[in-house]
Amino acid sequence: MPRAHLAIAADQPGPVIDRHIFGHFAEHLGRCIYDGLWVGEDSPVPNTRGWRNDLVAALRQIRVPNLRWPGGCFADDYHWRDGIGPRAMRPRRINAHWGGVVEDNAVGTHEFLDLCEQLGCEPYLAGNVGSGSPRELREWVEYCHATTGTLADERAANGRRAPWHVRLWGVGNENWGCGGNMTAEYYANEYRRFATYTRDFPDRPLFRVACGANGGDFHWTEVVMRDGYRGPLGGAPMFQGLSLHYYTVPGSWENKQPASPFGHAGWKAVMAAGWKMDALVRGHRAVMDRLDPAAATALVVDEWGSWYAVEPGTNPGFLYQQQTVRDAVLAALTLNIFINHCERVRLANLAQTVNVLQAIALTEEGGGRLVLTPTWHVFGLYAAHQGAKRLPVQGDAPVSAHEGLEYPAVSATASLGGDGAITVTLCNTDPAEPAAVTLALTGRAPKLAEARLLASAELTTCNTFDRPDAVATRPLDGVRVAGQNVSATLPPGAVASLRFA
Ligand code: AHR
Repeated sequence: MPRAHLAIAADQPGPVIDRHIFGHFAEHLGRCIYDGLWVGEDSPVPNTRGWRNDLVAALRQIRVPNLRWPGGCFADDYHWRDGIGPRAMRPRRINAHWGGVVEDNAVGTHEFLDLCEQLGCEPYLAGNVGSGSPRELREWVEYCHATTGTLADERAANGRRAPWHVRLWGVGNENWGCGGNMTAEYYANEYRRFATYTRDFPDRPLFRVACGANGGDFHWTEVVMRDGYRGPLGGAPMFQGLSLHYYTVPGSWENKQPASPFGHAGWKAVMAAGWKMDALVRGHRAVMDRLDPAAATALVVDEWGSWYAVEPGTNPGFLYQQQTVRDAVLAALTLNIFINHCERVRLANLAQTVNVLQAIALTEEGGGRLVLTPTWHVFGLYAAHQGAKRLPVQGDAPVSAHEGLEYPAVSATASLGGDGAITVTLCNTDPAEPAAVTLALTGRAPKLAEARLLASAELTTCNTFDRPDAVATRPLDGVRVAGQNVSATLPPGAVASLRFA
């Protein structure tokens, strides 16, 4: 049985774990917005101004800190003026990226920002660089924030007199690909041009996120940090965050494996591919550390998660997939990476909220039942880390490997909350062996307040509309506390959270 002996320095709180690391992403893609979050005011599904109440409640429960919208690739094909004014008058466009379906723009700026208010989270709007203009983006910012002038009047006429504060703005998405097929050098110039007009409003500073790299493209990060970060004459930084996109794709892009079933090799392939995130964050962080040693700029992993073959019988353009406890462990492993790099990683977004890729929820077509996925449970177990201070975790943890790629067999993070409670989150990435974990908490006599476990007797089990709680958390039994030492055994393929008063 793998054994991990970990020391947690409870008396050495480190950097704050930004709550925005636990963000989500909702694109106009498949059934994420329409027939997902949005059912419309006239739907028999209980809703508040068109947004599904049960989904809003589920997201509030995991304390969603921010929601990215409207894309994704959709963002660089989206013109925000299409989504304001009377709904019946809004244009109907083809969603060219995702299935060629008609986008009727029922959800636009007002609706989305209402959702964020219902969720109590910050909106993160993705601006259009690929097919948009600096003027269009400038006016979107003004439409949201102005207290006077034509755009403020137009916003009021459309039902919202008070300005919003939209702090988080993406300036382009994947501009190396669907966002315009640009080179890093070209994008860095474009970025400066767009950012010049993406202005702060008084008392409304913006957090601009420049489009970052595709996976391991460190050249992109180098160039955008060098050429896009400040103007040619120097001056203040022109962005506050630089993004990174990386998906865990077992198999290849052309031949993706299914979400379930899988064997042990399939399990390990996901762990090994997921752990690549650690090397990517380290690599991009190294470039940023060199060019921005004060870490003023955040690394923003605003798209991550598993990407499998679509569920049989569903539209291939909709990216609907199921989930198992394998995805829960992947989520825990990835969040542990972000927490371990929280000096630089200060914002991240799992793709995508509902019915698309590694969603936290799935809904039946036509506004039917809702099921929470294993990943939703992980975000619940990790919620206590939001805004807490990271505690150092050191020690011996065994290592696993798949096709020459190593990854930790046991991964752990710990934090100290504002209420003085310590949260330790652990995952066992081995599909076959339980893991024996001992923790030595220095500087604190721990009193166990709660221990929760997410595991599944069959690793390939999915939560379905008929068995919604097949994979759910339960108490973790058998945790022993003796002085400063804690011991527990995790079953194969599991995530756990231990809370100490
Ligand atoms: O999340 C699905 C797609 O993946 C996004 O639209 C795009 O940014 C990425 O390639």
